[in-house]
Amino acid sequence: MNHIVMIGFMGAGKTTVGRRLARALDLTFTDTDDRIVERMQMPVTEIFNVYGEPYFRRLETETVKELVSARERCVISVGGGLPMQEANQSCLKELGTVIYLRATVETLMGRLQSDTSRPMLRGGDLRTRIETLMAARQETYERVADICIDTDGKTFSQLILEITEKIS
Ligand code: S3P
Repeated sequence: MNHIVMIGFMGAGKTTVGRRLARALDLTFTDTDDRIVERMQMPVTEIFNVYGEPYFRRLETETVKELVSARERCVISVGGGLPMQEANQSCLKELGTVIYLRATVETLMGRLQSDTSRPMLRGGDLRTRIETLMAARQETYERVADICIDTDGKTFSQLILEITEKIS
């Protein structure tokens, strides 16, 4: 089906860029977190609080597996932690072209400073949380991706242009 899949750290812009890209290419947009929230009828933070992270990770795997059989070509944005599970990596590859939206810790700090919707960033110093998670994830994001896009200092329009050029 060759979907377009956006991966990257929380705050990298996957959802916004994904939405705009879908509009530009006249494709449907979908987001794994949105699908999970819809299914569970509760926000991600509440799923973490009530059922715990491992349960959320299982929901992510089910969601990404379901998408493999989607009949319509779409742009898919996936949660920042989803590519970390090995079982999900083959699904991502199977889905189509994987685009990693890369951002520096500095940029992410600015975007995530006042965020309260992300359970993985709770507790302790934000910079340390981001640095620790990024150190554990960066290599996987780069390995799973077909295309890496540096987002720092670029407008959404520039990013869409860069992505459309690279996938054409
Ligand atoms: C997570 C990222 C979030 C969401 C959940 C866990 C992570 O998605 O899936 O809070 O582990 O990085 P976004 O990357 O869209 O914020």
